[in-house]
Amino acid sequence: MELIFASNNENKVNEIRAVLPSEIKILSLNDIGFHDEIEENGDTLEENSRIKAETLHKLTGKNVFADDTGLFVEALKGAPGIHSSRYAGTGNSADNIRKLLKELEGIANRKAFFKTVICLFWKDEIHFLSGKIEGSIIEQIKGAEGFGYDPVFVPDNYEQTFAEMNQSQKNKISHRAKAVENLIRFFENN
Ligand code: IMP
Repeated sequence: MELIFASNNENKVNEIRAVLPSEIKILSLNDIGFHDEIEENGDTLEENSRIKAETLHKLTGKNVFADDTGLFVEALKGAPGIHSSRYAGTGNSADNIRKLLKELEGIANRKAFFKTVICLFWKDEIHFLSGKIEGSIIEQIKGAEGFGYDPVFVPDNYEQTFAEMNQSQKNKISHRAKAVENLIRFFENN
């Protein structure tokens, strides 16, 4: 059974290939020769993941899934949220972190969570699977692993930031790992 992952990020595609059952053949956007930009103009992770998955589903008629992730900070009313990748306007992680720390200056409530939503079109039915991790934003960057906001995010019940953990530690607890676990469970039961 073929399943398109509506992503150009070959690292993510390979990660998914490694964990899904081998009877499911994962095709990336490169694999199917799709190189257009899909405008993600929704207001939620659910809407944006659906826009990507639905565009490809309509175009190909095949099984498709897409993911979307954001960091939601309580004291900032959920910002950066769906705008996480371009929060500072440059698309650069160091700039995004700098802006986040500035917005949180002098604010005691540092609670935040990462959430990943996967929208799946499987046998013409739509399904949403998600994963979330709660934590807090520290005041200065710590650690050099990972990407994005990892150097300022400490998961609840841990001392280290995501950027101080190695990849396999992060992958045991992360928002994306939990969403993917739910995707694996879906295929075990369907
Ligand atoms: P995407 O939907 O996976 O492209 O994620 C959107 C943005 O959220 C990324 O550009 C990062 O800024 C942020 N982000 C997503 N996942 C993580 C993570 O695991 N650690 C840190 N930042 C992340």
